[in-house]
Amino acid sequence: MKICKSMIGALTATTLVLSVVSCMKSGSPVEHTGLPGAIAKLLGGDKSIPKIQYVPDMADAPTMKPQENYLEPPEGSVATNSILYPSTVEEAEANLKNPLQSDPDVMALGEKMYNTYCIPCHGAAAKGDGSITDLYPRPPDITADNYKKRADGFFYYRITFGANIMPGYGHSIASHERWAIVHYVRKLQGESK
Ligand code: HEC
Repeated sequence: MKICKSMIGALTATTLVLSVVSCMKSGSPVEHTGLPGAIAKLLGGDKSIPKIQYVPDMADAPTMKPQENYLEPPEGSVATNSILYPSTVEEAEANLKNPLQSDPDVMALGEKMYNTYCIPCHGAAAKGDGSITDLYPRPPDITADNYKKRADGFFYYRITFGANIMPGYGHSIASHERWAIVHYVRKLQGESK
């Protein structure tokens, strides 16, 4: 019995929707009375009364112009999946902190990355005597005292953007790998005589 009632209810609702839709489609509204008539009028069947919006999300959607951000991020927001790039090496040195704690895994990663990307020019001990330095300008000894004094952000910036004739590696070495290299360079500096 219950099922029958709900079926009748569903049928009535379907008829109502269909009649409203057919009324809207035809353009010349068929005369409806009662509730269907009222709904049809409100949805635009009757041009003499103001229309109401039904599910207005499409019509009211904010538009996005080419080259425009969809939403401006709130002031002071920081992307969770990227780092802020300082515009100068001084800014990097003053503001960037190494987010990685030095531990055996980080050191192993730093060593691997250094030995992949830096060793050809800077050499295994970072003295500036890499294997290609008879062909390529010799880099400075980055274990020297003047480099030991530099903050981590300096090295991070140099790896990311390069330095004069040294190419930048920001595009091919992930951020956490660059910071791991910084730890490894620190280790080489500690071992340097
Ligand atoms: C293709 C050779 C080459 C590679 C690869 C290279 N460097 Fe260099 N690097 C140089 C040269 C040459 C300089 C000197 C640049 C100058 O001042 O003109 C230099 C300079 C530097 C400096 C000092 C910058 C300054 O402002 O005094 C640091 C630090 C450094 N490199 C770190 C690295 C690290 C870390 C890597 C690996 C991610 C690396 N470099 C990869 C050639 C290289």
